[in-house]
Amino acid sequence: MTDHDDASAAQTDVSEAQIAVHWREEDYYQPPAGFAAQANAGDPAIFGRFAEDKFPGCFTEYADLLTWDERWSTVLDTSTPPFWKWFVGGKLNASYNCVDRHAQSDAEKTAIIWVPELESDEHEHISYGELLRRVNEFAAVLRDYCGLGAGDRVTLHMPMVPDLPVTMLACARLGIIHSQVFGGFSGNACGTRIADSGSRVLITMDGYYRAGDLIDHKVKADEALDEALRQGQEVDKVLVWRRHAGQYASQTPMAPGRDFFVDELLAEHQGAKVEPVSMPAEAPLFLMYTSGTTGRPKGAQHSTGGYLSYVAGTSKYYQDLHPDDVYWCMADIGWITGHSYIVYGPLALGTTTVIYEGVPNYPDAGRPWRVAEQLGVNIFHTSPTSIRMLRKVGPEEPRKYNYHFKTMTTVGEPIEPEVWRWYYTEVGKGEAAITDTWWQTETGGFLGSTLPGLQPMKPGSCGPGALGIYPVIYDEDGEVVPPGSGRAGNICIRNPWPGIMETIWGQPERFIDVYYRKYNRDQESTDWRDWPYFAGDGALQAADGYIRILGRVDDVINVAGHRLGTKELESAALTVDEIAEAAAVPVMDDIRGRIVEMYVSLKPGVAPQGMEAKVSRAIEVEIGKIARPKNVWIVADMPKTRSGKIMRRVIASVSNFTDVGDVTTLANPEVVDKIRRQVQSTKVAKGEQPRELTEAEKEEIAKYGNAE
Ligand code: WT7
Repeated sequence: MTDHDDASAAQTDVSEAQIAVHWREEDYYQPPAGFAAQANAGDPAIFGRFAEDKFPGCFTEYADLLTWDERWSTVLDTSTPPFWKWFVGGKLNASYNCVDRHAQSDAEKTAIIWVPELESDEHEHISYGELLRRVNEFAAVLRDYCGLGAGDRVTLHMPMVPDLPVTMLACARLGIIHSQVFGGFSGNACGTRIADSGSRVLITMDGYYRAGDLIDHKVKADEALDEALRQGQEVDKVLVWRRHAGQYASQTPMAPGRDFFVDELLAEHQGAKVEPVSMPAEAPLFLMYTSGTTGRPKGAQHSTGGYLSYVAGTSKYYQDLHPDDVYWCMADIGWITGHSYIVYGPLALGTTTVIYEGVPNYPDAGRPWRVAEQLGVNIFHTSPTSIRMLRKVGPEEPRKYNYHFKTMTTVGEPIEPEVWRWYYTEVGKGEAAITDTWWQTETGGFLGSTLPGLQPMKPGSCGPGALGIYPVIYDEDGEVVPPGSGRAGNICIRNPWPGIMETIWGQPERFIDVYYRKYNRDQESTDWRDWPYFAGDGALQAADGYIRILGRVDDVINVAGHRLGTKELESAALTVDEIAEAAAVPVMDDIRGRIVEMYVSLKPGVAPQGMEAKVSRAIEVEIGKIARPKNVWIVADMPKTRSGKIMRRVIASVSNFTDVGDVTTLANPEVVDKIRRQVQSTKVAKGEQPRELTEAEKEEIAKYGNAE
């Protein structure tokens, strides 16, 4: 490089190139030989079948895994972009595909193994025949008792019990659109989603076990209904499953005429049969809410035919599900991972899927490996946060148990290469393939991953685009950032695929704006090539096509693999009367990836005593415990631009002990040093000083807050 090159490089404000310079390329790990021999995708001819010139017809291979009442006439309808319609003209029922057809071929086969959190409680094995009975009876309750039918929305706020998939599948049987809200979310968060979806029925549970305690969950239903009503949505019925039949685990009274115990209703529908309703392929199957740049949550609307095809296909080839496998995905069904890869994908293929009620380290760090040994689990699926946690609390626990995984998945966050290696060596005992799967609530299924029998793994990279998925990285101007260039940019998918959401419920404009506006080449075009899908992640592609995901570019904080919107956190803090201004920032965390810190300023005359706790509590009430901040900093003034915008990157830098960058253009640069002294001295005293940040992490902080 000449001096001149150096100088011009220094002038560009795109510092992304530095990321690559500091990024060591990891060595490949070849798929274990035994794995490849039995893999569903073991023949490289599969790449030809999914080659770009086979698009969109290639995806009929996935659709053909399902039983259709009527076959589609058009594989992909692009007439109203970017509202793509897959398998148009086709009709099917998701519950029939996940239950009836397997019950018909082998009613005794285990569909679900439920593992209660208390080890003294017995596992429950639910056969396909039994699942069919339960789904039918609950569908009868929904139809005959609640008067619900195709197109109605129902909100579910349920924990990790088999009654949750029974509820989802009973909805699907009738074409009712279910919207399951993560059980750990607060009543208020649930209420907002009830209102947004327009649900008149809430299905919940009295309580469940978590970390050894029987938690009162029904209390949240009352909060949810109040919040929904405040937002204009009335709920007529609350159906309450009971964790222990005949016993009520909640302190909250049942509201007469509104709240009903499901076990009592089921008693009146014993043996009921409900015909599965044949639904158009593009009929919505469910909504899954997620966070974005603005405060209002987005209800990603997933289709029946396209979605179910995509999760069945990717479960077959990427999870490598065979009929006799015992598959355990330790995610929560309240997130998209659980919908796609605990419930719909595995059951569509007639596999045995394990559902675990509690936390991974209860009562000790050996629990997951004991469960794996006891049940003969041979496919395991979890998040980097769980892997980091289990590695920290029980690094040698896996060795003590006699289980053998053939493949293991990670999902939700980038995984550090050293954590990856522990997963590979200790958890997988060096025998299992790892798939690092990159995707999103909106995408229904995997976008980036290695095919475990055919493509080598590379720690820290998810791998190339999945079958039929064609990723591209664009810079801010829409120029392609070529693989191997060492530069990062915005990862997009060039083509539609069957698992992509159909729209954002009730916000079609936002759907276009958030995911398609940025790189759309022609608004009038009905050619899908003009509509790349903008994923909202920064990424880097190596010369071999493998992708490293760097993280969100839209002011979303990924805490333990869960997306929390900056704006939602800030509005939650602002529900505290005394708070004048609030800003949420991410802080690097060794276990949970990122954790939230809040900065708040108080209204004039307010005493600071107790305000930290009040803000934390408000966030717990509005969102849930997972969002609770690590610290709440009360500051006299926030660093602001001259136009009054809070400079989140500056306070994020302070919280992470990294360089605040240029602050000379701020309206009040003098506050930065004050805040730094206040925050950093307290952190040092508490022993909270983080490790040295990587280049990618520094980059994330330096850009944080720009999406606004
Ligand atoms: C965001 C999506 C996909 C189900 C769970 C999360 C991040 C997801 C990976 C991965 C690096 C990942 C991205 C993405 N992410 N998987 N394998 N490596 N980052 O779903 O809540 O919709 O979050 O999670 O930033 O955009 P989600």
